[in-house]
Amino acid sequence: MTETDYSGLVLRDLNYQSYLQIPELLRLQRLVSRPRHHDEMFFIVIHQSFELWFKEMLHETDLLVEHFRGVQVSRALKVIKRINAILENLTQQIQLLSTLTPVEFAGFRDRLKPASGFQSLQFREIEFAYGLRDPFFLQFFKDEPEALERLRQRLEAPSVYDEFLRALAAEGLPVPAEVLQRDFRRPHALSAELVEVIRKAYVEPGERYHWVLVFEAMLDLDMLFSKWRAVHVLMVTRTIGGQKGTGGSSGVAFLESRLPHRFFPELWEVRNVLFDGGYA
Ligand code: HEM
Repeated sequence: MTETDYSGLVLRDLNYQSYLQIPELLRLQRLVSRPRHHDEMFFIVIHQSFELWFKEMLHETDLLVEHFRGVQVSRALKVIKRINAILENLTQQIQLLSTLTPVEFAGFRDRLKPASGFQSLQFREIEFAYGLRDPFFLQFFKDEPEALERLRQRLEAPSVYDEFLRALAAEGLPVPAEVLQRDFRRPHALSAELVEVIRKAYVEPGERYHWVLVFEAMLDLDMLFSKWRAVHVLMVTRTIGGQKGTGGSSGVAFLESRLPHRFFPELWEVRNVLFDGGYA
């Protein structure tokens, strides 16, 4: 019987090229500029490599959810660390764009319209998975039933944050019932009771210091994602200035409006109250 991989690919004569499907991968960079613009290759490669890392990040995120469901705290921590390493890499990678001057980009930008980062399904899946679920962005996939289905599944599932809170509750922390039973499709509303639960876990961890490590690692993740947004908008500013985006948004102004979004609001809010009541 012929052995195949999970997608049905026949596994024979495995070597570097065939295992990693390098010839197929290297055929996927199709330039649309005419005559070919030298820098379009760079633009395609940077975006494609982002999408590969987004794929890996979603893969790790699904494992993180599994670990929270099983209340496997140290395993969850290990996965968060890998996700953070990927995000570190992505915040570096976005800076590659500083080698693309406005004039170089203008040399092929019109050809790629109306393609836009708005249409990155995996980026939106990541946001939805971590609890940022703005239905505004569904319109960019209205003609793609499979993409809409993937987003719908993410919308209807508890977020990473919800799973984390359930794990906290399973370990005996008094997470408020209305937080645990909330409608996942709606935005998470900041809960003062939850802030208090987290504050106590920080200042009186007792035998549960592992949760402090998880809080801090999750904060790193949130910071790194925000850092990606911040570096992206800086790169966009230096490349297109005040021009509108190819996806029809106001461009920089729109991207700046996204900067305050956070995945884990109470982990930020607790900073405001940690020192109340003499814990300085
Ligand atoms: C010259 C380089 C780039 C420029 C000028 C640029 C510009 C923009 C602009 C103006 C938007 C707002 C939406 C629109 O109207 O199109 C946007 C969104 C976005 N871009 Fe970029 N971008 C660049 C590179 C990248 C790269 C390398 C990535 C990597 C994946 C990326 C991912 C995204 C994503 C995911 C969004 C949606 C952000 C959100 O909804 O919060 N962009 N980009």
